[in-house]
Amino acid sequence: MLATETYIQRRLRLKEAMGSGLILFLGHDESPMNYADNPYPFRQDSSFLYYFGIDSPGLAGLIDIDGDSASLFGHDATLGEIVWTGPQPTLEELGAQVGVSECHPLSELEVLVSEATDSGRTVHFLPPNRAATILEVEKLLKIPSSDVRQCVSQELIRAVIEQRLVKSDEEIAEIEKALEIAAGMHTLAMRMSRPGMREQEVVGAIDGLVSSQGSALAFPIIFSKRGEVLHNHKHDNILKEGDLVILDAGANSLTHYASDITRSFPVGAPFSDRQRQVYETVLRAEMDAIAAVEPETRFEDIHLLASRRLAEGLQEMGLMKGDLEAAVAAGAHALFFPHGLGHMMGLDVHDMEGLSEDLVGYGDEAKRSTQFGRSSLRLARALKPGFVVTIEPGLYFIPSLIDQWRQENRHAEFIDYDQLEDWKDFGGVRIEDDVLVTSDGHRVLGEPIPKEIADVEKLSAT
Ligand code: GLY
Ligand code: MN
Ligand code: MN
Repeated sequence: MLATETYIQRRLRLKEAMGSGLILFLGHDESPMNYADNPYPFRQDSSFLYYFGIDSPGLAGLIDIDGDSASLFGHDATLGEIVWTGPQPTLEELGAQVGVSECHPLSELEVLVSEATDSGRTVHFLPPNRAATILEVEKLLKIPSSDVRQCVSQELIRAVIEQRLVKSDEEIAEIEKALEIAAGMHTLAMRMSRPGMREQEVVGAIDGLVSSQGSALAFPIIFSKRGEVLHNHKHDNILKEGDLVILDAGANSLTHYASDITRSFPVGAPFSDRQRQVYETVLRAEMDAIAAVEPETRFEDIHLLASRRLAEGLQEMGLMKGDLEAAVAAGAHALFFPHGLGHMMGLDVHDMEGLSEDLVGYGDEAKRSTQFGRSSLRLARALKPGFVVTIEPGLYFIPSLIDQWRQENRHAEFIDYDQLEDWKDFGGVRIEDDVLVTSDGHRVLGEPIPKEIADVEKLSAT
């Protein structure tokens, strides 16, 4: 948990940003795997965590914008429960940790919310991301579950996004703790990956490292020699000498701030000439993109800069041709780079995308392109100090996509399809770091994790 004052100030700022009414934050409940006493690992709702900080199920928070109060709703453990769980803090003790003194049984929430709506007051709430929360809103606000998503408060969504977008020093310190764990995950994978191993052995070891630190994964691990499958969660390949693998993995700090790092490395051998060419192109794109991160620069422009760097490398490899500026504008490079350059990161690895991917990444200032590749850009808006973004260019050789584009003769003036035939089994390379926008530029967060070829080879190819 962060400092008590942090939660008090966050709620005050939110209250000031909102007009009138009540703000309802529903925490998550346990989510059963197969029956109630056998739940998935608990994960609190991120906005509840942000304003009310308590990492336990069965809670709700209410902020009265017109009055001057914040209340916590939950229940004190009964003796029958304590027999199974051991002693638990009381609701009042939990509330005190986050500066809330008004604590009530959950049953009172329904009464309070009914009184408020009956007297014409607005009860603002965010888009629920779990079905159980939608049902809770239905019960409390008497809105049919099928209508809940249409009734969310746009005013609240915007206010929460504006507030959570800018990270404080306290939050940056948490993200750097998460990155310390990520560094351990990546260096362990580089060290241990050997010809003859199954990918799952490496995944298990990284997972164990995270668990041994009391932490959790920020998202399911992507580790594969089939790097061209962008979010490849299958780990059943046997590694061979000279395979190039992608590891995209991060952990949470104990207060649930995320890290999100990708490294690509060869197994049991130095980079081959081809791997080196692709890797150096991606690394150059990543470093140039990072160098461009500063306040007021539009992230979409950095995406385009990285895309041009990738296209230049592809031209050197003989795979792209023609006017590269025009090729990137037309989206021809997206055959090899079909995703966006990065996203916001914070309490969620793709921060706040559950509230609205477009409002987080585009706001009112930009409109999402419909062009293949660029349409997957999750973040386009101008950067501000305190934003934490990922920079994650990649190059991929996706056989089915290549075949389809070739058949359609798509962007044939920019792509040498004959040369490309020989690359269809290459796989992919991605390199990703987490970057803070500062008042005068940027800072790559966390201790450096090897990414220069010589450093990666020193760790991985021994
Ligand atoms: N780890 C998923 C991503 O990089 O967006
Ligand atoms: Mn990632
Ligand atoms: Mn990412």
